Amino acid sequence: MATTSSSVFERVRERFPALRAAGDREVFFDNAAGAQVPDEVADAVRAHYTERNVQRGGHYALSRAVDEGIADARHAIASFLNASSPREIVFGLNATSLIRMTAEALRPRLKRGDRVVVTELDHESNIGPWLRLESSGVEPVFWRVGGGDAGRLDLEGLAGLLRAGAGRVRLVALPLASNAIGRIVDVAAAARLAHEAGALVFVDAVHYGPHGPIDVQALGADFLAFSGYKIFGPHVGFLWGRADALRTLEPAREFFLPGEAPYAFEAGTQSYEGIAGMAAALRYLASLDGSGSLRRAMARIRAHEAELASTLVLELGRVPGVHIYGDADPASVDERVPTVAFRLEGRTCSAVVEMLAALGIHARDGHMYAPRLVRALGLDPEDGVCRVSLCHYNLPAEIAWLAETLRAMK
Ligand SMILES: Cc1ncc(COP(=O)(O)O)c(C=O)c1O
Repeated sequence: MATTSSSVFERVRERFPALRAAGDREVFFDNAAGAQVPDEVADAVRAHYTERNVQRGGHYALSRAVDEGIADARHAIASFLNASSPREIVFGLNATSLIRMTAEALRPRLKRGDRVVVTELDHESNIGPWLRLESSGVEPVFWRVGGGDAGRLDLEGLAGLLRAGAGRVRLVALPLASNAIGRIVDVAAAARLAHEAGALVFVDAVHYGPHGPIDVQALGADFLAFSGYKIFGPHVGFLWGRADALRTLEPAREFFLPGEAPYAFEAGTQSYEGIAGMAAALRYLASLDGSGSLRRAMARIRAHEAELASTLVLELGRVPGVHIYGDADPASVDERVPTVAFRLEGRTCSAVVEMLAALGIHARDGHMYAPRLVRALGLDPEDGVCRVSLCHYNLPAEIAWLAETLRAMK
């Protein structure tokens, strides 16, 4: 089993045009900012343009083909998330705009003095839209990270905020994994607490998306957003909403649009080529399991990445002068994805990442759009952290090259 699994991952690089072109001259360690796409995704996008670049909803065959493609993709995404129905899947431009749309559609349902809980661990995309409800008298409260450098969200912190809210907390927005430090959040436990207190739960799964199976039933949340381009697909966004939770929203829509989900939430023309590409990305992922099960394939990715994450944390931790932010224990792979934030003593992060870039190693420096977290870790968001973010197509040899390069910098 282990042998089969690793051989699948050894061969996947051949399926990515950018990885073929890069050979061993470039290392893609900036996947959290956007992953590469396999051939079938690029082919599906191209096929849309060359074979059926027409508007949906017409009576002619090509237009019907576009309608069918959209319906198939909705179905595939619903099963990827284990949603109850494709009608719970809303397409959009990206995750940020879908989070904004959800917050604005919830606004009419909220009253002065209601509260929303946002976290210090999140990307600002899942904070700002909820904070803006303040102009309607809604009070935002922060679930803060504790534990010094570890950037952990403790459940007692949430329980305290819910108790203090005394029934006024209407929504808890939280991430499934941090895009800055790679920490995984126990969303299922948080959702149980939030629901006991009568609050809805909104999950930002953008960073977790490429790293493992997502089961919205097991998470027990009400809404969840993710982005195609982080998960080997095109630049499109997706929102899952539990059918009854979607019914609580009041979307802005033109009078002729259907009033029900998902159509009421999909303004204007969608990216048909992007949606076709996303369906192809899910087919690619499913192909990583011998029996073609997407769920099992994602579980395989999770197991494979645990080894990568452990090697990465171990190797970085051994470089003199490297300080890891977030979990620095190579053994605690259950609590992280292979995204690691660090600083190198005596160097700014921009200098480190520039030097890595000059050698062909793609990484990222700065606040990772999580400046509140970076500040909570005791750092200046201006220089922030160095971040390397791996996914299933990365190799242990690339980690060794990174560690060697950092050692030489010191
Ligand atoms: C955790 C997280 N949430 C939200 C976003 C924003 O996603 P999008 O670009 O699809 O709006 C990102 C993008 O990096 C992210 O990492």
